[in-house]
Amino acid sequence: MKKKLITAMALFSFGIMLWAQTNNLSVSVARGEAVYKKECLSCHQVDGGGVPHMNPPLAQSSNVLKDKQKIITVVLKGMSDRIPLDDEYYSNVMASHSYLTDQQIADVLTYVRNSFGNKATAVTAAEVKAIRGPVKKTTSQVKKS
Ligand code: HEC
Repeated sequence: MKKKLITAMALFSFGIMLWAQTNNLSVSVARGEAVYKKECLSCHQVDGGGVPHMNPPLAQSSNVLKDKQKIITVVLKGMSDRIPLDDEYYSNVMASHSYLTDQQIADVLTYVRNSFGNKATAVTAAEVKAIRGPVKKTTSQVKKS
């Protein structure tokens, strides 16, 4: 009897955990969609298909699905490497989007990783922060001695 109750309780809390996790993901995806429309859509297109030989597709991109560190770095630093992405080259230049907050970058990448037929785990603000590194002080913040 006691065992059954414990099992039921464990299942219940597991259910709540799963629910909270999916819920967090959909909240982040919804916020990320707004960032995408404003900051990324003009190049990567509404369906994430990109523009042939100019802007790479984000749909089914190996890096988008498998390499969080790489894609966080691309958004923070921009990209003009001209290296093959899934065997194709792209001629346009992506500027740095480091003016976005850690949360906005996490949300937009979570959106990208869960749209256009993509399915992958969320990117968190902490992961973005870790790659951004310590934020440099602007001159107005530096104390005059
Ligand atoms: C001015 C057009 C432009 C905008 C705006 C832009 N990108 Fe890009 N993006 C590119 C280009 C071009 C590349 C590839 C550059 C290269 O090959 O050197 C790229 C590369 C990428 C990659 C790497 C893809 C891969 O397969 O490795 C990701 C991820 C990405 N962009 C996401 C975004 C996100 C998210 C935004 C919005 C915050 C955004 N981009 C805004 C043009 C753009």
